[in-house]
Amino acid sequence: MTDVSLIGLGPMGIALARALQQKFTLTLWNRTAERAKPLLNQGTLLAPDARAAVEASPVVLVCVADYAASRAILAQPGVSEALRGKVLVQLSTGTPQDAREAWAAADGHAYLDGALLATPGQIGRPDTPLFISGEERALAACRPVLEAIAGNIQYMGEAIGNAAAWDLATLSCMFGAMSGFFHGVRICETEGLPVDAFAQMIGAISPVLGEMILDEGEAIHAGGYGEPESSMATCASSGRLFVRQAREAALDPSFPDFLMRLFERSLDAGLAQERLAAMIKVLRSPR
Ligand SMILES: NC(=O)c1ccc[n+]([C@@H]2O[C@H](COP(=O)([O-])OP(=O)(O)OC[C@H]3O[C@@H](n4cnc5c(N)ncnc54)[C@H](OP(=O)(O)O)[C@@H]3O)[C@@H](O)[C@H]2O)c1
Repeated sequence: MTDVSLIGLGPMGIALARALQQKFTLTLWNRTAERAKPLLNQGTLLAPDARAAVEASPVVLVCVADYAASRAILAQPGVSEALRGKVLVQLSTGTPQDAREAWAAADGHAYLDGALLATPGQIGRPDTPLFISGEERALAACRPVLEAIAGNIQYMGEAIGNAAAWDLATLSCMFGAMSGFFHGVRICETEGLPVDAFAQMIGAISPVLGEMILDEGEAIHAGGYGEPESSMATCASSGRLFVRQAREAALDPSFPDFLMRLFERSLDAGLAQERLAAMIKVLRSPR
């Protein structure tokens, strides 16, 4: 018997294994067994199959490409029976519906759904966030294990889809900002401006951008969109500038076109004199 079993040794699984083996005995399983070799030592063993991995520990972590891969592993002979009475923590990225289906399929084991808001290089730090949802009792049973991989555990409640929802909402924010940043990089490049200085400037003003997000979020929460400091019409003018500048400099128009479509729908919906947050009304109405 070991303390923890870990299924999945991609870049994230390997980082999890390295953090876990500092504090716990560990059993590993991966479809491609060779990936485990550099990790094996006196306290870290390789199981011959998924069933043996699950049998080896009271806490089983799964971190594979997606829920379909996880389902395929958990459907292997004997795995479901071996899981009974244990805690399964799903750390693969998925949707809230994926989490609900995985929870519904749990047969005699506790199920927690987790989302790591980190790159592999950030695993094992006290400030690394892990969103987790499911039964609080199950979380209490494996908290020290989870704290070894991500010290900043954010419990999102019993509703099993919550961690995935928070994760996707956060990733939406991150990838949305990144897409805009990359378009900004293209503007700098075509004007001969240094990209590293642009990135540093964005990093430096990120608290101000954070304040703006807080402000828009509060407006949406309160449902108050009037008396804007900056109206939708004003913001849409910037959108038009992105479109025109992309044409003038022969830039890829994907980001400006995407943004301008949302502005046009907002203006068509009569939101010109409301604040930017009013765009949520457009996003709430099915097209
Ligand atoms: N990397 C990151 O920065 C990061 C950050 C947050 C969350 N995550 C999440 O963590 C999870 C793992 O990510 P990753 O970075 O380690 O790489 P990945 O490429 O998403 O996953 C690789 C792992 O999935 C396994 N796998 C894929 N398809 C499989 C199948 N059909 N059956 C069995 N195993 C299968 C691979 O096994 P083989 O070795 O045999 O191919 C390997 O263990 C993903 O859900 C990802 O979204 C990753």
